[in-house]
Amino acid sequence: MNIAAHPVVEADQTVYLKDYQKPTFSVESIQLDIRVFAEQTLVTATLKMQRQTPGDLVLLGRDLELKSISINGKQLSESEYKLDAEQLSISNAPDEAVVETEVVIHPETNTQLEGLYLAGGDLFVTQNEPEGFRKITFYPDRPDVLSVFTTRVEADKKYPVLLANGNLIEAGEAGEGRHYTIWEDPTKKPSYLFACVIGDLAVLKDRYTTSEGRDVALEIYAEEKDIPKCHIAMEALKHSMRWDEEHYGRPYDLDNYMIVATSQFNMGAMENKGLNIFNTSCVLADEEYTTDAAIMRVQSVIAHEYFHNWTGNRITCRDWFQLCLKEGLTVFRDQSFSEDLQSAAVQRIDDVAVLKAHQFPEDAGPLSHPPRPDHFVEINNFYTATVYEKGAEINRMMATLLGKEKFRKGTDEYFKRHDGQAVTVEDWVAALTAGSGVDLSEFLLWYNQPGTPKLEAKGEYDTENQTYRLHLKQSLKTHPKYPDLKALPVPVALALFNAQTGEQETLHSTAIVENNVKDGVYLFDQPEVTIEFTGVTAKPVASLLRNFSAPVNLEFNYSDEELAFLLQYETNGFNQWQATQTLLERILLNGHDAQIYLNAIQQTLPAVIAKDPLLASRLFDVPAEGYLGSRIDQNYNPAVVNEAREALLNQLAQNLGDFVKETYLSLQPEEQKEFSQAMGVRALKNIMLSLMARQGDAEVFDLAYQQYQQTGNMSERLGALKVLVWNDAAQAKEALQDFYTRFKDEALSLDQWFMIQAAHPKATAETVQYLTSHADYDLSTPNRIRSVSGGLNVNPVNTWSFGVQHFIQLAKYLDEKNPIVGSRLLQVLSRWYTLAEPQRSEVKTALEALKPQVKSKNVSETLNSMLSI
Ligand code: BES
Ligand code: ZN
Repeated sequence: MNIAAHPVVEADQTVYLKDYQKPTFSVESIQLDIRVFAEQTLVTATLKMQRQTPGDLVLLGRDLELKSISINGKQLSESEYKLDAEQLSISNAPDEAVVETEVVIHPETNTQLEGLYLAGGDLFVTQNEPEGFRKITFYPDRPDVLSVFTTRVEADKKYPVLLANGNLIEAGEAGEGRHYTIWEDPTKKPSYLFACVIGDLAVLKDRYTTSEGRDVALEIYAEEKDIPKCHIAMEALKHSMRWDEEHYGRPYDLDNYMIVATSQFNMGAMENKGLNIFNTSCVLADEEYTTDAAIMRVQSVIAHEYFHNWTGNRITCRDWFQLCLKEGLTVFRDQSFSEDLQSAAVQRIDDVAVLKAHQFPEDAGPLSHPPRPDHFVEINNFYTATVYEKGAEINRMMATLLGKEKFRKGTDEYFKRHDGQAVTVEDWVAALTAGSGVDLSEFLLWYNQPGTPKLEAKGEYDTENQTYRLHLKQSLKTHPKYPDLKALPVPVALALFNAQTGEQETLHSTAIVENNVKDGVYLFDQPEVTIEFTGVTAKPVASLLRNFSAPVNLEFNYSDEELAFLLQYETNGFNQWQATQTLLERILLNGHDAQIYLNAIQQTLPAVIAKDPLLASRLFDVPAEGYLGSRIDQNYNPAVVNEAREALLNQLAQNLGDFVKETYLSLQPEEQKEFSQAMGVRALKNIMLSLMARQGDAEVFDLAYQQYQQTGNMSERLGALKVLVWNDAAQAKEALQDFYTRFKDEALSLDQWFMIQAAHPKATAETVQYLTSHADYDLSTPNRIRSVSGGLNVNPVNTWSFGVQHFIQLAKYLDEKNPIVGSRLLQVLSRWYTLAEPQRSEVKTALEALKPQVKSKNVSETLNSMLSI
């Protein structure tokens, strides 16, 4: 009724960390009553509020139809409160206020998968992090308002499962074919950790006894047919519970722990208190239906969400700028857990590969931000590789510096000081400092500054004095928004190897740096320094940043021969891999000769295959085209990178000769006892198969088809299918058809069928058209969208040609339907400005044309940032 008569000025929607203010009211308790009907859901909330500071009583709410509101039993008329699209505010509220609201919401038409939503036929679930709770009821929906929740859930009996956080205290009939349950969660929590589930699901049950003797009921809810695929997750859950007791002294604190699987989920999984909700892709695991990589991911995500119970839930974030406090620490914890599950070197390799492929490019482009941002428009856009992966690295650096014992003392202090609180990154670093007795305050710089530091290193051997001098220099690219960048504390883990014998030398540092060098870790926190090692009897080869001790770009003046030496003699598996990657990058991007690499890999492989097949498989890694592209800052031509990489792979295949087929035929995954070993053998087998295809082996497609048909293991089946499909083998069509028939009712397996076809190197706009108009393609299921989009993006040549329109059209469609996912998919194009002309201008024009067509904060903020370069 109030039509704006003034020009529409777009309000600046930016939120700043510096503007943080304490909440005016606390919520001592909340009683929620959720009644689900076919065409609407009624939510009644009773909040016991208490004034903390002067000001209005503000309740946040979005897309809520307000039916009534009362304070201390008295109904409010419309003139007694202000209501807009984002909030309801009451001035002059009493200091003690019992606020009761009744609202109507529509989960049955909620496509954004945020708040309460219908996730397919028989299941309603919630997703409230970061700001979904305000779509369920009016509430001070911010992480520093902690409250005790009691929840009543009521629905038709066709939904037998009614879950919420905490302990079940009552259940019963509600008349007219309906029933209800009441749940009480004894621990105070922020609203983003609230969850409820209404549905028809089967359950896998188990039990766990904590170190304190608490008997915990464990339940994983999924569709009946998927229950057999829940055992790996259940084992991982028990393992995580034990691991957190042993490594951090953290036992579980409730009598039940429930996990619910849904195929409709924007993210991987969510740590709601005692009631995790998982994307099926992160909980269902079975060799027959899902790949080895997916099985590893399930175990790490289960651990991640479980570990949040202490790092995130018991101790939470004061505001969303502090997101990396819980995510960075919990990722570091789940990475450490996974290092115990498989070859630790390979886990580290995989984690660093993700960091370099996603976080480094993000931090070098228009979406760069500090791990703790200081402003945002839409917080959902800040669940980034920088917050997660770089956040984890900061914790790892501090842990490396402190060593196991002191780090544990630090975390003990953190749990002691802050249990039950909503805190900041400063609180975390202060607790670590106090507990360990080591001042870590300079590490706060890492949280507040953007960009990947460049670490330039030079080594010099002085034969006469038998000393080795290492010169280190760090620098950060200037950033328009952060003019005052300081040198960061960089722990440099290092070793020296005798170039003649290949033996590792004992480190003797000179007096100048003696105090800082300990266990081969040097803390480099100046712009420039030279450190000296004495008693070095022969010219050494230095290995720096062992285990990737800091998230920096290392530029060391190695010769290619020295890198080949490290590939053979480095005892740290990660640095052995890193040496291959550095060599390969030089070959692929700087035109170095491949022969040194080819010889070294030939000499090294047989021994590594025998000892650690999984690590051996990673030594075959040739940097992905997307990663190589991210290393090029201007005039990037995807086709040139593609050609260079193809040529190298062909050369590698030719060079290895008979070794390839002999190895393929000798590998027996079935004979391995350990999963991790079997996984390595399968990975190697698939690598050999693809190399045989490059050799033009006459038998390769018969062998691939045989492997495809005879195996019961998804990694083997997919490995073979890829070789057939991507090489357009005669058997490809039949195998694809067979795969479809076998797995058409298994969504996660079918995702792989879509992915493989989208990732065909010669895919075209027609391929995408065929896949996206297929009867099983579904724009309301993020997993299915990601399988095609992710597959397409395996080949940057395709991403940057017909892929551009694909991603732009998707972002436009999802802008309204599911802006969280739309914004993420659009980021695939964020490095448009590095392209060579005319592509650069073409993509820019397409992005600019999208700008006036999008409305959501999510997509517009991303688009604005992408174009602001
Ligand atoms: N808290 C997040 C889930 C989340 C993120 C919900 C953003 C809503 C918005 C959860 O703990 C998480 O981090 N999940 C990751 C997987 C994890 C193993 C890093 C995810 O969902 O990708
Ligand atoms: Zn998390």
